[in-house]
Amino acid sequence: MCGIVGYIGPKEAMPLLMEGLNKLSYRGYDSAGVAILENQELQVVKKKGKVAVLAGEITKYTFGGKIGIAHTRWATHGEPSDRNSHPHADCSGKIAVVHNGIIENYSSLKKHLQEKGHKFASETDSEVIAHLIEVHYKGNLEEAVRQAVLRMIGAFAIVVISKDHPNQLIVARQDCPLVIGINDNEIFIASDIPVLLEHTQKFLFLDSGEMAALSVGDVRISTFNGNRVQKLPQIINWEQGKIEKAGYEHFMLKEIEEQPRVVRDTLRGRLLAGGLVELEDFALPEDYLSQIKRIYMLACGTAYHAGLIGEHIFEDLLRIPVEVDLASEFRYRDPILDENTLVIAISQSGETADTLAGIKEAKAKGAKVIAITNVIGSSITREADHTIYTRAGAEIAVASTKAFIAQQIVMFLIALRLSQHAGSIAGGVLHEIAQALHDLPVQIQSILDNHQPIRDLAKHLAQQNPCGHYKYNDFFFLGRGLDEPIAREGALKLREISYIHAAAYAAGELKHGNIALLTSQTPVIVLLTQERIREKMISNIMEVIAREAPVMAVAYEDDNEIASIVPPFSGLSSNVMRIPRTISWLAPILATIPLQLLAYYSGLERGCDVDQPRNLAKSVTVE
Ligand code: F6R
Repeated sequence: MCGIVGYIGPKEAMPLLMEGLNKLSYRGYDSAGVAILENQELQVVKKKGKVAVLAGEITKYTFGGKIGIAHTRWATHGEPSDRNSHPHADCSGKIAVVHNGIIENYSSLKKHLQEKGHKFASETDSEVIAHLIEVHYKGNLEEAVRQAVLRMIGAFAIVVISKDHPNQLIVARQDCPLVIGINDNEIFIASDIPVLLEHTQKFLFLDSGEMAALSVGDVRISTFNGNRVQKLPQIINWEQGKIEKAGYEHFMLKEIEEQPRVVRDTLRGRLLAGGLVELEDFALPEDYLSQIKRIYMLACGTAYHAGLIGEHIFEDLLRIPVEVDLASEFRYRDPILDENTLVIAISQSGETADTLAGIKEAKAKGAKVIAITNVIGSSITREADHTIYTRAGAEIAVASTKAFIAQQIVMFLIALRLSQHAGSIAGGVLHEIAQALHDLPVQIQSILDNHQPIRDLAKHLAQQNPCGHYKYNDFFFLGRGLDEPIAREGALKLREISYIHAAAYAAGELKHGNIALLTSQTPVIVLLTQERIREKMISNIMEVIAREAPVMAVAYEDDNEIASIVPPFSGLSSNVMRIPRTISWLAPILATIPLQLLAYYSGLERGCDVDQPRNLAKSVTVE
């Protein structure tokens, strides 16, 4: 949610800042801007639209400055427009700021500043920061920023530059991501680590409530209250983190194709012989494990769907009650938890504001929190008691794909580790699970080796009426048991990538109202991987067919019955997306893959920007 970049060093700042913005644009793409300092002049260029629009604009000017800041925006306060774009300047035009987050008390601050005569050029909350710094500036930029942040309520990561301090950047963060990359003679700032991996592997991480005054050779970190903080840089050797399309047209397809590797990496060194599990950061004492009476899963969006799958797996393997909550709801409903509750918070980015707030709430009530995240050093790793990484590598496409698969694997490993302690699974079952986990990468690859039938389905579903409107605009996804969260995930992927309205239902709920919506223009995608409830699901499919809705299925390769139930669209050989057979707990992983591809190709067929869908951003750092 907004990306920020900064640079000081011997090189020209502009190309580095633009490279950073391009890599960060998945965090927001409503507008972009840069401020470069050269010869006591602050050159600010900002434009509504994607980074490419800004790139076109800057060709009209020359920039030689070696210090600068830049921003790519996901609009919160104020519409996407040139004037609401960052950087924002104070009245004197000497100070410029880029901001990620929300200043909750901006309205009272703005009123106060306006009363003092400050003139505002935008409708954003962010602009108050520049004016607040101006008010407190008495020759020391670091102190002025400190005074400003002490008056700001909300979530923010900011980078500040000033004409009067041509060799210095000031950064501050509270509940929003910001990393500092350092080399011998240069300093980089970015919202995410992968943006900087081309340039450095040495990183400094500020905690929430810390700020830093940065010049080459002088890095001074302190708390907002002014206490000095000593920090050693950490080396991030994260090969998979590099942001590159590697020959793919879209990050989304690249990330879908990476999933066999993701499963292998996420399992590596953790799944031992005979199904035993060793998780490097799982440091909960054994006597605590015996006390766990309840498990909460906390997440948003796709990660929430991973939690819903976890609910089934944990309850099946551990026989401990599990509750899954949307983090945005959990924190405001006074949930009942105590020291015997284990909370598992799932977040690809590790920066989702609602999930972070949920963790704070859980910890305040005495629960222990394990985080599952993909991003090393992200905020969640500091908030949770323990972190287990998903090792999916940087996920750049806005729609989450490979991280979702990795989240499911990590949850399975945690469930196995806990059941190892509880002795709740028989040895034979453990062996079967271990074998099934080992087989997954090859099975995923076999689905990925045959895109064409799914592409053909997407093409069929994108046909237009003679008047040029799409024939199919409402889709249903149906599943029971472990297929139900995958129905939700399939529907979410389709909605966000292709802008098709799609709803997911537990198949048994159809008859309680939703079936009223079915017509011959409502394609229904059914999932059929859970043998225990297969007959019930077949009955639900029959109910759909009786309403003349076109049906497609995700089913096992050896399921001979389904093809005769679900007739193919004219010109296509089958409406069944096939997956290899596996154990029921792992079927969601395999069943996800065809639905990711269906969403991807539907987006392509409908001319959508699949990597950067409208109105979205990768990392949601506002509530
Ligand atoms: C959907 C998607 C979002 C995220 C959600 C949580 O494709 O990517 O729904 O899953 O915003 O994000 P994280 O996992 O970063 O907390």
